[in-house]
Amino acid sequence: MSSEASEKIESVLKETRLFPPPAEFVEQAHISSEEKYQEMWNRAKDQPAEFWGETAGNLHWFKKFDTVLEGEMPNTKWFTGGKINACYNCVDRHLHTWRKNKAAIIWEGEPGDTRVLTYQDLHREVSKFANVLKKLGVTTGDRVTLYMPMIPELAIAMLACSRIGATHSIIFGGFSADAVADRNNDAQSKLVITADAGWRRGKEVPLKTAVDESLEKSPSVEKVVVVRRTGAEVTMVDDRDYWWHELMEDVSADCEAVELESEHPLFILYTSGSTGKPKGVLHTTAGYLLGATMTSRWVFDLKEEDTYWCTADIGWITGHSYIVYGPLSNGATTIMYEGAPNWPDEGRFWEIVEKYQVNIFYTAPTAIRAFIKWGDEFPNKYDLSSLRLLGTVGEPINPKAWMWYYEIIGGERCPIVDTWWQTETGGCLITNLAGITPAKASWATLPLPGVQPVLVDEEGNEAKPAPTADGAVITSGNLCMKAPWPGILRTTWGDHDRCRQTYFSTYKDLYFTGDGALRDENGNYRITGRVDDVLNVSGHRIGTAEVENAINMHAGVIESAVVGYPHDIKGQGIYAYIIAEGVKPEDEERQRQNILQTVTRIIGPIAKPDKIQFVNGLPKTRSGKIMRRILRKIAEGQTDNLGDTSTLLDPAVVETIAKGKV
Ligand code: WT7
Repeated sequence: MSSEASEKIESVLKETRLFPPPAEFVEQAHISSEEKYQEMWNRAKDQPAEFWGETAGNLHWFKKFDTVLEGEMPNTKWFTGGKINACYNCVDRHLHTWRKNKAAIIWEGEPGDTRVLTYQDLHREVSKFANVLKKLGVTTGDRVTLYMPMIPELAIAMLACSRIGATHSIIFGGFSADAVADRNNDAQSKLVITADAGWRRGKEVPLKTAVDESLEKSPSVEKVVVVRRTGAEVTMVDDRDYWWHELMEDVSADCEAVELESEHPLFILYTSGSTGKPKGVLHTTAGYLLGATMTSRWVFDLKEEDTYWCTADIGWITGHSYIVYGPLSNGATTIMYEGAPNWPDEGRFWEIVEKYQVNIFYTAPTAIRAFIKWGDEFPNKYDLSSLRLLGTVGEPINPKAWMWYYEIIGGERCPIVDTWWQTETGGCLITNLAGITPAKASWATLPLPGVQPVLVDEEGNEAKPAPTADGAVITSGNLCMKAPWPGILRTTWGDHDRCRQTYFSTYKDLYFTGDGALRDENGNYRITGRVDDVLNVSGHRIGTAEVENAINMHAGVIESAVVGYPHDIKGQGIYAYIIAEGVKPEDEERQRQNILQTVTRIIGPIAKPDKIQFVNGLPKTRSGKIMRRILRKIAEGQTDNLGDTSTLLDPAVVETIAKGKV
């Protein structure tokens, strides 16, 4: 094991306290005992067809499937022969129950406006908008781009797409016009749904303007639907752009949900990898929906009377699975908040928790670290006693953030579920179950039923347990999955070979997650972070190659190398080493600003480097490969212990870079 890896192990093992779930919680939990969990896990492993076949009974089928699972990774097909509709499962099936007048979505806008949609309201709006889609020429199998603020129309548009079998591709509102164009082109989207603008910290985010710009480069798009949200002035192009509210005026609220094949493409979601081009992860209808539905129930212990709030943006997978599909398929009440956590002040989230008496609250470690920085006075001002369960997702949660969340937000009363998963997995795979697994700060703990993790070394051999300095026995390796689960990605849009190469070829017969992990003697997992060139910045996945490509587009830039470094709030910050033509010391600051603008234009503000260092050369091996290990160490501030530099073409370059660290 490298010394870097063992240092990491020692530091995460320092916090060893266990926090068992309170007895009242256990009594009422969906999975309420370790025996029950073990029995489910064993059954899913030994008899997957029986286990998932029965579990699929939690969904509504127009026609039952013939086969549970066919094929091997990466070519698995689930529930073939079945006919199903995700929108029907999330909306219509509740109309025949007492839930028809239950709040499905409680929405709060950033300026303080609110809307509540019951299941019946949602059904009407979704059906009407599905008819609008049809009127605009969208049919089953077409792709539709959604580039929208966190407003109810976003959920309505998603569900309307799935109602008619159009595949949605949602693009987070923080991405640039160029990024929208690339994704439109890759998916060959026919229609874009957007808003005039969205609210963020009191300012308008000009979404329609970005769409206009993107359409100059994405010819597949024929029409645009625009929701009026902020009232911002926009240009509407005749016979291309339509107002949502006008289209909805005289359209029927009758629209049957289409009976789709189980493997019908439900959505594409673009995510970053270690190459410059984001991949369109494809999820299909039945398997994805079953995963989102069951994990919502098992992990968040969703109950009829719960008010549930996941603070993610629907532009990311967390919002797809745990604001929309998972909760609604369970008939739950899901909160949607449009804006920033610090608007009008840093107490906004806690004000919302008190106002709606939220019971289950799911957020990201980066948000928790920001709350800590803002001070306890904000949560302390509000009554948070309605909370019964807390969750985190997106990156490893450090013990300090975990303890603060447990004490200040959860009042030492609420179990915390640390849910590990990915865009590609569709739903949670490794997490503690609030009713049974004692929480261990910063450990995601156990695999859910149907999930078979394995840790392997660089060669793909199963990693061996090894004793640590303080007597624990820990296995450390790259996290892979041995068997498919229903929500596993099916392909990367338009390029199945890329999917195979990226996830299924590093290690034979295994799905490789790209993460490193530790396992203790009891089988608990602790995710240590990405082992590839992918950064996790504020819980957002950003590929270093993507940022480098954007920087290299800037005039005068010859070459660049981007690495991550530890950042107090963001988890990881972006550090860019740049070789640029003729930058004089007095011009550096201006050049930095210009480069940041270019990155914002090509990808979006989320990919802006936190630090830029201009260099004359990069540490390369004789074969021309950049030694990122060294650049990472310098960015982390470890300039005196840079390891072996003898294989470098020009070892002197390292010293110069280390001296110029910013
Ligand atoms: C990557 C996936 C899953 C929704 C949010 C991000 C990291 C995610 C955890 C966790 C440690 C985590 C991993 C993973 N990650 N959850 N609980 N503990 N790390 O989705 O953009 O697809 O990123 O986020 O590194 O590979 P994503």
